[in-house]
Amino acid sequence: MHPYIDRRNRLLASIAGDVAILPAARPVARNGDSEYEFRQNSTFYYLTGFDEPDAVLVLAPEHPRHRSVLFLRTRDRAMEIWNGKRLGVERAVEHLGVDAAYPLSELDERLPEFLCGARTLYYDIGADDARDRHVLAARANAEALTRRRGRTVSTIASPATVVDPMRLIKSPEEIATMRSAARITGRGHEAAMRATRPSLYEYQIEAILEFEYRYGGARSTAYESIVAGGENATILHYSTNRERLLDGTLLLVDSGCEMDNYASDVTRTWPVNGRFSAEQRAIYDIVLAANEAGIAQVQPGRSQRAFHEAAVRTITEGLIDIGLLAGSLDENIERERYRDYYMHGSGHWLGLDVHDAGRYRDDEDRPIPLQPGMVTTVEPGIYVHADLNCDERFKGIGVRLEDNVLVTQDGNENLTEAIPKRIDAIEAIVGSTPCASVS
Ligand code: GLY
Ligand code: MN
Ligand code: MN
Repeated sequence: MHPYIDRRNRLLASIAGDVAILPAARPVARNGDSEYEFRQNSTFYYLTGFDEPDAVLVLAPEHPRHRSVLFLRTRDRAMEIWNGKRLGVERAVEHLGVDAAYPLSELDERLPEFLCGARTLYYDIGADDARDRHVLAARANAEALTRRRGRTVSTIASPATVVDPMRLIKSPEEIATMRSAARITGRGHEAAMRATRPSLYEYQIEAILEFEYRYGGARSTAYESIVAGGENATILHYSTNRERLLDGTLLLVDSGCEMDNYASDVTRTWPVNGRFSAEQRAIYDIVLAANEAGIAQVQPGRSQRAFHEAAVRTITEGLIDIGLLAGSLDENIERERYRDYYMHGSGHWLGLDVHDAGRYRDDEDRPIPLQPGMVTTVEPGIYVHADLNCDERFKGIGVRLEDNVLVTQDGNENLTEAIPKRIDAIEAIVGSTPCASVS
């Protein structure tokens, strides 16, 4: 079956007696007559596969005929000549498998009919003021219609509570798309490694990454690429990418493409001149061991907490070994002294969003157990900020290694395994074929 019909049917079954209103994204103005590149709302896309703006999906399990209804833009020859083709109301039922389709302009008039008799309305209130006014007006109208029957919408709840648990477990189709996002991201990182040499600018490496993504069929990056030379690697969300790469420093690249709206999120760190110094190698070896120890914990029944603890333990041990921390392993972990060097979590869900839908802890504050079909990043790092009071030789070194890992029935599959990560593989590829067009 059409995967989107299957997802809608599963959601309809889980909201019996209720109703959901799920809007598409709207275009966002950039400046005079120009818009930011359109990116569909992830949940709307998950349930429809429809990539146009200005649409609303209504799921009404109790409706006698139309349980799954799409409001969308009508066909309009003049607008289509300027801005491109539209699916249109007439074709929506057949193409998208919804029960009915109406022009978006009829939403106000038709919505009350779908809300009558529903207890909970799943709608993301507060995300869009203009849309909220229409939905609340429809709710008031539905109340007037149903007063005599005594049942009306009593609660508005976030659709995330019902959709996010579905989005957390990826289907085989989604995993296939994420594999292709991982493959194209790998091409970008490898091309960037091959081209790297001292005196290039960070933005030139960014251009190489993004050329490969676009050339491979991705419409954009999944988030702003971090291309951080030298000390910039110790700024966690550095993304200005304007500085020159200096001989003897490391380059940290955190970048992934978005393929058919699915993200990849990969970090590799390599020496600008192709050879790790002794200090860089010492830090890199610890982060690599933490990355591998974390990935080994990605198994059904374990949790994000298990792999964070494995990464923290490995990093703390390593920092003690090289003299950046003093004292016992347990004491450094208990007092969280490692946080001077490793101050972020070890991973997050990955899917349609780079920080994907899904909870990390349940209502009792227990970590959510990993299950087959979940995809998580594993991304430990060590950042020796220049203002720390520590051994000067390590200052300014920042290393992170981030992979995208699928939980399988009997363990895991690292979707980004093929992207060079071991020191010998990195040293063999960096600078091997400088990109001819950059001088
Ligand atoms: N690139 C964002 C992250 O690693 O979470
Ligand atoms: Mn990342
Ligand atoms: Mn990440």
